Amino acid sequence: MLKYPDNLRNEKLRTWVADMAALCKPDRVVWCNGSEKEYDEMCQLLVEGGTFTKLNETLRPNSYLALSDPSDVARVEDRTFICSRHKGDAGPTNNWVEPEQMKSTLMGLFDGCMRGRTMYVIPFCMGPYGSPISQLGVELTDSPYVVVNMRIMTRMGSKVLDLLGEVGEFVPCLHSVGAPLAPGQKDVAWPCNKEVKYIVHFPEERSIWSYGSGYGGNALLGKKCLALRIASVMARDEGWLAEHMLILGVEAPDGEKTYVAAAFPSACGKTNFAMLIPPPAFDGWKVTTVGDDIAWIKPDEDGKLRAINPEAGYFGVAPGTSDKTNPNAMATCRANTIFTNVARTPEGDVWWEGMTKVPPPELIDWQGKPWTPDSGRKAAHPNARFTAPAYQNPVIDPDWENPAGVPIEALIFGGRRSNVVPLVMQAFNWNYGVYLAATMGSETTAAAVGQVGQVRRDPFAMLPFCGYHVADYFNHWLQFGRNISEPPRIFGVNWFRTDKDGKFLWPGFGENMRVLKWIVGRATGKASAVEGPLGRMPRYEDLDWTGMENFTREDFNDLMSIDRMQWIQELLSHDDLFIRLYDRIPKELIFLRELIVSGLWRSPEVWELAPEKAQKAPNGAA
Ligand code: OXD
Ligand code: MN
Repeated sequence: MLKYPDNLRNEKLRTWVADMAALCKPDRVVWCNGSEKEYDEMCQLLVEGGTFTKLNETLRPNSYLALSDPSDVARVEDRTFICSRHKGDAGPTNNWVEPEQMKSTLMGLFDGCMRGRTMYVIPFCMGPYGSPISQLGVELTDSPYVVVNMRIMTRMGSKVLDLLGEVGEFVPCLHSVGAPLAPGQKDVAWPCNKEVKYIVHFPEERSIWSYGSGYGGNALLGKKCLALRIASVMARDEGWLAEHMLILGVEAPDGEKTYVAAAFPSACGKTNFAMLIPPPAFDGWKVTTVGDDIAWIKPDEDGKLRAINPEAGYFGVAPGTSDKTNPNAMATCRANTIFTNVARTPEGDVWWEGMTKVPPPELIDWQGKPWTPDSGRKAAHPNARFTAPAYQNPVIDPDWENPAGVPIEALIFGGRRSNVVPLVMQAFNWNYGVYLAATMGSETTAAAVGQVGQVRRDPFAMLPFCGYHVADYFNHWLQFGRNISEPPRIFGVNWFRTDKDGKFLWPGFGENMRVLKWIVGRATGKASAVEGPLGRMPRYEDLDWTGMENFTREDFNDLMSIDRMQWIQELLSHDDLFIRLYDRIPKELIFLRELIVSGLWRSPEVWELAPEKAQKAPNGAA
């Protein structure tokens, strides 16, 4: 007989949990209240079951290490489905199966899938409590690892049942590792289903079913599944934006605060940018983090865009993170953190590639095997993660939990491009910005499958996360821009341009503050620009070079030059995407491409910045 919490008044939730328990047949059902005591008990349970190793209490207080099954280490895009009623509504960039057929497959898989296990009920809130932008969800899972991660990544527990009341809406999220236990069968440290995985979204009924994986975005269903794929559908229907964007605040020495949101594909330094430390010469400037991965953006009554971070924690990639590259991320995961697939030191601390220049002489690697620097393999998995509470970030923004959200003045889109794309440019207007974002490309890195250096189109950095036809999504952005009187300015950046010897032309990291300062200046009418063939560009004198005077005008002009023939090639490659989306691509994008071509033909073969091309800023600054 199913027991319910005293404050559960929502009939729909009551019925759904009962139905799913009847389907999955767990040994017991536990309602999570979200308390610290519950978290500690679950961690203890995970230690006893062999999933967690408690780390050294002095070196890494209240923290744990989990090592996953080697077959379950990342999001499985080829097993991710958008099961809209019509195939055309999922679009060519999503996997699709007819929803009734998929339901019948899933019913078969979920039938009895939790035998021998506990079904945990996790009520959670994406976004600050009481925010009109927040959304509620409930995840049912047979993974205690998921429960403790969800407690860090979302606002989770009893309070959500109060917020739900009798008739409140929630997104039902059903998750199973797909590994039922026969009576007496001993469990493994990382249960999952090695053969069968399904991450399925039903956009019309706004529900999520995930089977077979216990890892990250496959299993923590509030993140990519709800906050991006399902939320993007909600946002389209209701006139807002659910984006794969960080949100940061820039505070000037006089206290003026400007917020920007920025989209980058994976492995382009998003968390580093969200926690950027300005160079020493930028005395009095501060960057603060509202979010590092997802932004929900809604116009308020005055038409001003307000953004919240729907998450409460960071699920950050560990390798490459160090006191040099991102001291704020290192401080964030100093304590109260769950590490997954990193290496363990003999002292009981963690280590990963890039954390220190010299690796420790011996470690236990992410597969639980002894490791030394000459082992010839990675100690941590390249997609190893830390799950850490956002409030531990030393530069967390004071308004990160403001239910009203923060006002967004600029939107930034960036990719990893070793050539062609300049360091920074401002789109001429909203529609140009949508074109720039829709055609965003990024070069694949050695860590990703595919040929290294090949440009993959990743529109708005949303390729794996858009819950509907991506051309309809472009149209939604165009429509959204029509409905706001003062839309934020849109910028493109590329930190990764190289010279002919493959050397980075731009140092990146904290020095990105110089570009950010210009972007903020443009958004607030304080910075100057000239008109380039593709957008407005800063001249050398428009950026603040204090403390970096050895970076010459020539260096900068190399970073900013626009080569007509390279761009013609680039525009032709946009056609690969546009033709795939032919039946629904907004006509504006086709015409914009023509305008861009005509701009290129009006310019020299290699367009370069010249100081005399100065143009007045909107407020009259030179
Ligand atoms: C992430 C991703 O984990 O984008 O944030 O893959
Ligand atoms: Mn992401």
